[in-house]
Amino acid sequence: MEHGAPVNPWAALAYLVAGVCFILALRGLSSPVSSQRGNRFGMIGMTIAVVTTIVTHFPMTALGALDGQPIFEPDLGLAGQILAAIAIGAAIGLVTARKIAMTAMPQLVAAFHSLVGLAAVLVAAAAFLNPLAFGIAQVIRPIYGPDVVTILQVSRVEMGLGVAIGAITFSGSVIAFLKLNGNMSGKPIMLPGRHVINLALLAGILGLIGYFLTDQSPWVFWTITALSFVIGFLLIIPIGGADMPVVVSMLNSYSGWAAAAMGFTLHNSAMIITGALVGSSGAILSYIMCRAMNRSFISVIAGGFGGDSGSGAAAAATDRPWKRGSAEDAAFLMQQAEQVIIVPGYGMAVAQAQHTLREMADKLKEHGVRVKYAIHPVAGRMPGHMNVLLAEANVPYDEVFELEDINSEFAQTDVAFVIGANDVTNPAAKTDKSSPIYGMPVLDVEKAKTVLFIKRSMGGVGYAGVDNELFYRDNTMMLLADAKKMVEEIVKSLD
Ligand code: TAP
Repeated sequence: MEHGAPVNPWAALAYLVAGVCFILALRGLSSPVSSQRGNRFGMIGMTIAVVTTIVTHFPMTALGALDGQPIFEPDLGLAGQILAAIAIGAAIGLVTARKIAMTAMPQLVAAFHSLVGLAAVLVAAAAFLNPLAFGIAQVIRPIYGPDVVTILQVSRVEMGLGVAIGAITFSGSVIAFLKLNGNMSGKPIMLPGRHVINLALLAGILGLIGYFLTDQSPWVFWTITALSFVIGFLLIIPIGGADMPVVVSMLNSYSGWAAAAMGFTLHNSAMIITGALVGSSGAILSYIMCRAMNRSFISVIAGGFGGDSGSGAAAAATDRPWKRGSAEDAAFLMQQAEQVIIVPGYGMAVAQAQHTLREMADKLKEHGVRVKYAIHPVAGRMPGHMNVLLAEANVPYDEVFELEDINSEFAQTDVAFVIGANDVTNPAAKTDKSSPIYGMPVLDVEKAKTVLFIKRSMGGVGYAGVDNELFYRDNTMMLLADAKKMVEEIVKSLD
């Protein structure tokens, strides 16, 4: 394609429709009630975008000349390769989506983002190596000597930014995957002088992108790529496990911007729109998560949070007196209650206790007890983790409340039933300035008349690695067992 060749108006229209579908998809995904509709819009938009791209870029071979015009015929071999690649990708996606455990979702997302980053690097490399095929270069034919292919300046900027963001997304996502998957320690790895090194690398990358405008030599392009791979790696290794979900969402945002940059290189407006949507929604999500944990985005990026602060506190914890209860005790207390607020957390996801939990709630409702669910914005390991699990168990949406809508109700509640949650209930966030979770808004479960806590052991800490003073309070009863087993026992006792 020549640079500036008119874009097929039908393709432009189809991409616009796909873009509108993606916006409607994001709108739908903002609430559990409309999320299925949102997903459907997303699928329709993606089908329109993929089909339009294939139809308008159908590979053609020139066969000969007719009245001076070349004759083109569909290149079925190449088309077969494209369709085979789509089929392989779709099969991998389908199998992975079916097999993956809900708790392993963050690392899966990190792995997928790494592929988006790699794709951006490969597209930028392909465009750099063959700019004429991408329509981003001019051929200058000197009177003497060979033709000179000059990449357009604006395309050099797009290419430089695309390859840099793509490479950072790739290496950063690989590290995030390794940390979340347990192949690498979740503890922050702090290199001396890392901030200076990172700033110097960033300045180097930006400087080289600027220099690329005047010199399109291969060494400039490949040095930008190499430095970006390195900075992606260095940026993520000092970030501890507790901040990894924010990092995954941030990398999600980067992958969007990388896709948008690829969209410019490929003259594909659907990719520009989609990339910008993913880029900005990922950035907004990172911001929301940081706010819910009372951490600044800069402090997350600077790293160092989530070391081994918890082990000492947890060891000390077991020396203090605490009350142990049984499933029968819990059933008795809840049956007598007027209102029970259930607080689910990561442990419920690990135990997959959501279905049994709903059975328990149904039984309680039969006994005339009012049941509500309180969801902390960062309960679990990814945004909306608890909402998804409760929706899977068909918990009615009108029983599920966000932190700010329900926090004031704990004081008038008979039983707070905490199932596998820990950090999101920890009052140290309100009182202990030295705690790593200080400042994070938490659920005021201790204000309920009785707090029932399900967890497997007194020593087990939450993600932030700190002890929870609530376990030792007079109005707390510990139910030590796997969450699913304990709730099953409670359901039996409720008969
Ligand atoms: P956590 O504080 O991580 O606590 C999980 C609790 O579940 C632990 O007390 C653990 O104790 C228990 N548990 C684990 N497996 C269990 C099982 N099979 N049965 C019963 N209990 C089990 O969870 P949370 O309260 O949901 O807090 C989430 C944490 O993740 C916060 O620190 C938050 O900042 C962090 N985080 C989340 C996000 C998002 S987006 N969700 C983002 C960033 C950070 P035992 O080992 O003793 O059983």
